[in-house]
Amino acid sequence: MTRRPLVAGNWKMNGLCAALPEIEAMGAAYDDALRDRAELIVCPPATLLALACEVTTRGGLGLGAQDCAVAPRGAHTGDISAEMLKDVGASYVIVGHSERRADHRETDADVHAKAAAALRAGLTPIICVGETRAERDAGDALRVVGAQIESSLPSSAPAHIVVAYEPVWAIGTGLTPTVGDVAEMHAFARERIEARLGGGKSLRIRILYGGSVKPSNARELMHVANVDGALVGGASLTATDFIGVASAYR
Ligand code: 13P
Repeated sequence: MTRRPLVAGNWKMNGLCAALPEIEAMGAAYDDALRDRAELIVCPPATLLALACEVTTRGGLGLGAQDCAVAPRGAHTGDISAEMLKDVGASYVIVGHSERRADHRETDADVHAKAAAALRAGLTPIICVGETRAERDAGDALRVVGAQIESSLPSSAPAHIVVAYEPVWAIGTGLTPTVGDVAEMHAFARERIEARLGGGKSLRIRILYGGSVKPSNARELMHVANVDGALVGGASLTATDFIGVASAYR
């Protein structure tokens, strides 16, 4: 089973209109050789989606959002529905990022509902899971991630959903798990996804690694078994670094 690698850039709460030329430069550097090997998407803040769409389309990049509301519309001041994201050109949406789980107290049930909302709107959810440092130190990493998979993935999800394993302690810290730990977790995650969805779907689902991925470590991390791409934070803000990461697939 071959899975097309996906390299997704999560800009988080970064980027003004003046940053659009970076996306333009990513498109320019996303040449045919790289396109053959990996899919690239950028997830800028919601304020830039409509403007970025034109740029990503021109550059052959995909476009994703960073969160969505559960309801399709209505009296939810400040929220943005999956349908609205789709309307401005997004095809992916990150749900359950650890920063949203922490800052907005999102639970697995919230993440499950958001993933279902994304699917309802025709978006592909990138569902994030990952343990904290304390959980890993307590030998609980597999159990925690297994439980998040069980409760965050809609049981009828199709095989085009994406799962991202992001150890919380590796995000923005420069720390990464060992290759052995990544291999163990990704193999385990695929097993748990299969237990959740069945029908061999897990073999088609891409499982991304996220947490301090940069050009200098991307090749090593992206070549671990069951790692089907990366969810990149800081190193996705410039074309040089983002293409540097994606170039692990050249
Ligand atoms: P960093 O790549 O900055 O560690 O962030 C990872 C992340 O949270 C991507 O969603």
